[in-house]
Amino acid sequence: MNQSGSGSQNILRPLVHLTNNPLSLIGVVLVTTAAILLVFLAPSMWAGSASNPYLGILIFLGVPSVFIAGLVLIPAGIILRKRREKAQGSVSTAFPPLDLANADFRRLLIFVGLTSVVNLVLVSQIGYGATSYMESVEFCGQTCHTVMQPEFTAYQNSPHSRVECVKCHIGPGAGWFVKSKLSGVGQVFAVTFNSYPRPIPTPVHNLRPARETCETCHWPQKYGGDRLRVINKFGDDEGNSQTKTVLLMHIGGGNGNVGIHGVHLGAGVQMRYAPADESRQSIPVVEYNKGDGKWVRFVAQDAKPEVVAKFSSPDSMRTMDCMDCHNRPSHTYQLPDRALDAAMSDGAVSPSLPFVKKESLELLKGSYATHAEAAQKIAAGFEKYYSDKYPAVYAQRKDEILRSAKGVVAVYQKNVFPEMRVTWGAYPNNLGHADFPGCFRCHDDQHVAQDGQKIVQDCSACHSMLAMDEAAPKVLTDLGVSAAPKPAGQ
Ligand code: HEC
Ligand code: HEC
Ligand code: HEC
Ligand code: HEC
Ligand code: HEC
Repeated sequence: MNQSGSGSQNILRPLVHLTNNPLSLIGVVLVTTAAILLVFLAPSMWAGSASNPYLGILIFLGVPSVFIAGLVLIPAGIILRKRREKAQGSVSTAFPPLDLANADFRRLLIFVGLTSVVNLVLVSQIGYGATSYMESVEFCGQTCHTVMQPEFTAYQNSPHSRVECVKCHIGPGAGWFVKSKLSGVGQVFAVTFNSYPRPIPTPVHNLRPARETCETCHWPQKYGGDRLRVINKFGDDEGNSQTKTVLLMHIGGGNGNVGIHGVHLGAGVQMRYAPADESRQSIPVVEYNKGDGKWVRFVAQDAKPEVVAKFSSPDSMRTMDCMDCHNRPSHTYQLPDRALDAAMSDGAVSPSLPFVKKESLELLKGSYATHAEAAQKIAAGFEKYYSDKYPAVYAQRKDEILRSAKGVVAVYQKNVFPEMRVTWGAYPNNLGHADFPGCFRCHDDQHVAQDGQKIVQDCSACHSMLAMDEAAPKVLTDLGVSAAPKPAGQ
C-alpha cells in the first residue's frame, strides 16, 4: 500500500469513501460473484466437458449481465452518496489514507474478502452439482415445461428413455457444443418472449449428423441379420377382433453391405438426396454410390423439371444418415389407431369390452383445448357409452370400464399436446410406409435412373411378409412366439 499521497491514492481515497453505501456494496457483491463464477465455469466450457446449451447461456448471458449490473450499481451508489452529502452540506474534502486505520477502507476490504470467501465456498460446493444438473434430462425436458412437454413425454415412452437428451442433441466434443449454445441463446429469447413456433418445427436443422451421435452407442457393423416383427391390430367390430401381421425385417448391415442398413450406410456407400419441402416428405432427386465410385442419379418421374434443376450439385443435397429413417427414435408419437392397438395389447384398455376400439377411437379424435379437458371429456364419454348402451356390462364391470377410460385418456395425453398444437400426426415418422410416406418417399417405383433402373418397391426387398392380418398366424405357433409386441414405428 502506498502511504504517501500519490496520484492514484488521491483518486482512490474519495472513491473508497463514497463506495461505502448500500447500493455500491451490492454492486461489489455482484461483481465479485460474477467474476468468481466466470473463473470457475469458463474452463469447463472451453474444455467441452460441459455439454449443455443452458450452461452456455448462463455463461454467455447470465453471468456477464450480473457483472455489468454490478458495475452500474457501484458508480450509481457513488453518485447518489455524493448528491446526498452535497445536499446535507457534508461533502468531505480530506480523506484518510488507504490503510487499515481507515474505517471506510477496512469495511470495503472486509466486504470484498467475505463475499469472495462465501462465493468460493458456494461455487466449489454447488458448482459441480449445478453443472451436472443442467446436463440432466429433468432440466432439458422440464425446465420450459409447456415447450418441451411433447418431446419429453414421447421420450419417456421410447426405447431411449434412459439416454440423456444431450447425447443425441449435442454429442461429444467442443465444436458442436459451442454451435448448439449459440442456437440455444436464441431459444431462450424465444421462450422468454413467448415467440417460439408451435409445434416446434422439425427437422432440427442444426442437429449434429446422426452418425456422430447415434454411433457412439450403435454401430453399423453390428446389426446383422433379420428381425421378426409382430404387429397387433384390433378391429372396429363388437368383439374388437384381433389380427397379427408378421414381418421378417432384413435389417442387415455389417460386412457385405446387405440389407436395409448395409445398402444405405455400409462401408464405402454414399447416398444423398434432395428434399423439396421443409419436412423432407417429398424427395425428387436421389444420388447413390454403392462403393464403386460410380454415382447413379435417380429422378422422380412426376417431379417438375424446374425443381429437379435446383438440385444439380452435391452441396444442394443432404447426406443420408440414421435420422432419415429413424427420425423419431426418441420422440415417437403414434396415430390414434396404432396407439390404441398398443394400449389394448398391453391391457391398459381392456380388449374384451364391446366396441371398445371403435368407441375409443372416436373419443380420441375429438378436439379438446387442454389435457385436463380431454381427460374429463374422454373419461365421461367412455363411461356414458357403456352406461347407456351396455347397462348390464356397465353394472358388472364398472372397475374395468373406469380403468380402461384412464387408458384411453393416457393414449391421448402421450400423443396430443393442444397447448403446443401437436395434433395427431403432426410429426411424420419416416420408418415404414403404412402411416406416412416414409421409405416410399424414394421406394415408390417412380424414381428412375438414366439407364432405366428404378429404386426398388419389391415387397420382399425390405421384409418377408410371413403373415398379413391373420387371427392366429401359423408361423408364430411354429416358432413358439407368443409375442407381446412392441408398438410399431420406433
Ligand atoms: C435417441 C436420440 C435422442 C434423444 C435421447 C433425444 N432426442 Fe430430441 N430429437 C432427436 C431426433 C432424431 C429429432 C428429430 C430430428 C429431425 O427430424 O430432424 C429430435 C427432435 C427434437 C425436438 C424438435 C421437435 C421434434 O419433435 O422434432 C425437440 C424440441 C427435442 N428433440 C427435444 C429433446 C429433449 C428435451 C430430450 C430429452 C428429454 C430429447 N430431445 C432427447 C433425437 C433425440
Ligand atoms: C447413449 C447411447 C445411445 C445413443 C446416443 C443412441 N441410442 Fe439408440 N438405443 C440405446 C439403448 C440403450 C437402446 C435400448 C435398447 C433396448 O431396449 O434393448 C436403444 C434403442 C434404439 C433403437 C430401437 C431398437 C429396437 O429394439 O427397436 C433404435 C432404432 C435406435 N436406438 C436408434 C438410435 C438412433 C437413430 C440414434 C441417434 C439419433 C440413437 N439410437 C442414439 C442407446 C443409444
Ligand atoms: C434406410 C433406412 C434406415 C437407415 C438409414 C438406418 N436404419 Fe436402422 N433400421 C431401419 C429399419 C427399417 C429397421 C427395422 C425396424 C423394425 O424392425 O421394425 C432398423 C432397425 C434398427 C435398430 C434395431 C436393430 C436390431 O437388430 O434390433 C437399430 C439399433 C438401428 N436401426 C439403428 C440405426 C443407426 C444407428 C443408424 C445409422 C448408423 C441406422 N439405424 C440407419 C432403417 C434404417
Ligand atoms: C432418400 C431416398 C431413400 C429412402 C428414404 C429410403 N431408401 Fe432404400 N434405397 C435407396 C436407394 C437409392 C437404393 C439403391 C437402389 C436400389 O437398390 O433400389 C436403396 C436400396 C434399398 C434396399 C436394397 C434393395 C435391393 O434389393 O437392392 C433396401 C432393402 C432398402 N433400400 C430399404 C429401405 C427402407 C426400409 C427404407 C425406409 C425405412 C428406405 N430404404 C428408405 C434410397 C432410399
Ligand atoms: C423400402 C423398403 C420397403 C418396401 C419396398 C416395402 N416395405 Fe412394407 N414395411 C417397410 C418397413 C420399414 C415397415 C415398418 C416396420 C415397422 O413398423 O417397424 C413396413 C411395414 C409394412 C407393413 C405393416 C404395416 C403396419 O400396419 O404396421 C405391411 C403390411 C407392409 N409393410 C406391406 C408391404 C407391401 C405389401 C409392400 C409391397 C408393395 C411393401 N410393404 C414394401 C419397408 C418396406
